[in-house]
Amino acid sequence: MCLVCACFLESLWVDMGKSERVAWEAAKAVARQFLPNWANVVSTLASEVMGEPLSGDLSADTGTAKQFWQGLRARQSGLYAVIGRPGMGKTALCVGICTALNRPTFVIGIKQKMLDRFTFPAIEMPFEDEGHVLESLKSLREMERPRVFLIDDAGLFFNNQSYRNVSSLFLQEMVGVRRHHNITIVVNGQQSSTIHKHLLDPDILFLKPPSLLFADNEREYIRGLERHALNRFAKIPSKDWVKWVYVVSDLPPFRGMMQYNCPPGWDEYVSKNKA
Ligand SMILES: Nc1ncnc2c1ncn2[C@@H]1O[C@H](COP(=O)(O)OP(=O)(O)O)[C@@H](O)[C@H]1O
Ligand SMILES: [Mg+2]
Repeated sequence: MCLVCACFLESLWVDMGKSERVAWEAAKAVARQFLPNWANVVSTLASEVMGEPLSGDLSADTGTAKQFWQGLRARQSGLYAVIGRPGMGKTALCVGICTALNRPTFVIGIKQKMLDRFTFPAIEMPFEDEGHVLESLKSLREMERPRVFLIDDAGLFFNNQSYRNVSSLFLQEMVGVRRHHNITIVVNGQQSSTIHKHLLDPDILFLKPPSLLFADNEREYIRGLERHALNRFAKIPSKDWVKWVYVVSDLPPFRGMMQYNCPPGWDEYVSKNKA
């Protein structure tokens, strides 16, 4: 029995005779039995659709790394997110992605003197002044060439506390129009639960080993994928974890573990440049 019908019938309650009330109570009892089942059906569907959104067996690898990087370079726009615990090589991987793309890159979270070491053209967007950030975001959007926006440790800048900041709202819009404006957004963060939720609908997800308490702290959708990632990392000695990432990508198609090196120009100082 649908909710609208139930409300309508409830409003008739005052006009009901005794036999009608008995029938109504029986109907409600049936509905009560049915509703928990329905809730189960919905949550099962949700976990099927949302827990494993991509086709195929997540434990099986698909695609080759070479084709993946070729395909990534060919993409004009995208949102790529790297999630994992501190010290796992997220920043190095993001710099590696920007190196592969080799486009004008606007960066929040890495100092200019470090950016100057890398092989791709990059400028720092200082984050201290919101007006300044907004201006930079606007000029980024106005550019015509395909370009990249890198946010290192996104939880520090665009997080679940800052949904109403003007710059966050603008970023949200930019995520929405990235394909129309040829913008690629590359972000990394320690926990998906702290990052601005609009940055977490990525075209490609790169997972490093998650934080220790990820089962409680992560967004539900990402948690399931992180379990897969963790199972795969468990097969590698932990000292090598910084060199590997679990990639979930439909276009270019790639699913599974991938190894990568520190990008050219990488310096240990970049790793701790917010200290
Ligand atoms: N592919 C890699 N191969 C070898 N060492 C790496 C690699 N990626 C990162 N590292 C090292 O791991 C450490 C953490 O890297 P970083 O990118 O700063 O991690 P995170 O951003 O996750 O905190 C640094 O010392 C860095 O040099
Ligand atoms: Mg980092």
